[in-house]
Amino acid sequence: MARKDLLVIATIGAAVAALAVRAQTPLSYAKDVEPIFVKACANCHGGDNPKKGLDLSSGKGYADLTQHKSQESPLMALVKPGDPAGSYLWLKVSHTALEGRGMPRTLFGSKKLPQTELDTVRDWIIQGANP
Ligand code: HEC
Repeated sequence: MARKDLLVIATIGAAVAALAVRAQTPLSYAKDVEPIFVKACANCHGGDNPKKGLDLSSGKGYADLTQHKSQESPLMALVKPGDPAGSYLWLKVSHTALEGRGMPRTLFGSKKLPQTELDTVRDWIIQGANP
């Protein structure tokens, strides 16, 4: 077998191993989700008067999201571990909530997070909303 072929096989092997590790390690709020929210949300959901009392700034978001009901839809939890459709946070970021606007809001309306980030938020909820 040529050296080049061996190199290709080794590279593929490493990629498969990396994927397997990723599949086994559940997503975590601190590592995977918080960086998205700090970047896209904390300018409104942070500071002295976070919108709807929801503080998504560094170190604050996990407790607010997992311990509070939605203010807009008070029968719903913001995050119901294992159940995106039952999580008001998911309805807001997937733009399917009936109240208010889709998140993140902008000056001129709303935009959606990039699909990979939406997938991360959804999978984090499905996997049990780990810290
Ligand atoms: C430009 C300001 C702004 C940005 C950026 C923003 N939000 Fe909001 N958010 C609001 C406002 C204002 C409301 C209440 C009105 C509404 O729902 O449109 C709200 C409401 C919410 C609610 C409902 C809270 C409740 O208790 O019912 C959630 C959940 C939420 N935002 C999540 C997010 C997430 C996650 C992001 C980032 C991906 C984000 N928001 C970005 C301003 C913002």
